[in-house]
Amino acid sequence: MHLHANAKHHKGPTLQNKNLLGNLAELHAKCFPHKPWSADDFADLQKSGCEIIASQNGFIVYRATCDEAEIITIGVHPDARRTGIAAAMLGIVEGDLKKRGIKHIFLEVAADNAPARSLYTGNGYKQIGVRPKYYDGVDAIMMRKDI
Ligand SMILES: CC(C)(COP(=O)(O)OP(=O)(O)OC[C@H]1O[C@@H](n2cnc3c(N)ncnc32)[C@H](O)[C@@H]1OP(=O)(O)O)[C@@H](O)C(=O)NCCC(=O)NCCS
Repeated sequence: MHLHANAKHHKGPTLQNKNLLGNLAELHAKCFPHKPWSADDFADLQKSGCEIIASQNGFIVYRATCDEAEIITIGVHPDARRTGIAAAMLGIVEGDLKKRGIKHIFLEVAADNAPARSLYTGNGYKQIGVRPKYYDGVDAIMMRKDI
């Protein structure tokens, strides 16, 4: 299963899109058990212009504006981690954005999220700043990659 859900292509809540967003919410809860997003949350993201690439075991949400883009979130099912899924999804998104003329990608990651920081650093993202105590007392590390 491969979903490229984009607000431009999903103007109304089609049954198919609703089912996909429900599956996405279930997967998100496995990845972020302490802050799960509902299917409605994902629908709102789509409406606000976010793009979502998802498969059975992973998802990535991003938003492009002018010549910049932001990775909103990324998650991989706990049973499928360390198999290259997140790195592959990042690669797909970067390829898509590059084709569209986007030059810079930004993201934020919690300072204590070692797996995610390692993922981003290993894929060429550089630290550009810190938002102190941004996530429940944990610093947010701001990162950028020029593509
Ligand atoms: C972060 C996350 C998306 C990584 O997904 P993944 O598919 O396991 O990552 P990949 O297999 O593509 O790994 C790519 C690289 O990231 C780094 N990495 C991933 N998991 C790691 C871990 N547990 N410890 C250290 N480095 C890790 C490694 O450098 C890895 O390369 P390697 O396996 O060749 O050493 C996944 O752990 C996850 O869903 N975490 C919970 C949600 C989350 O925190 N998302 C990020 C929010 S900013």
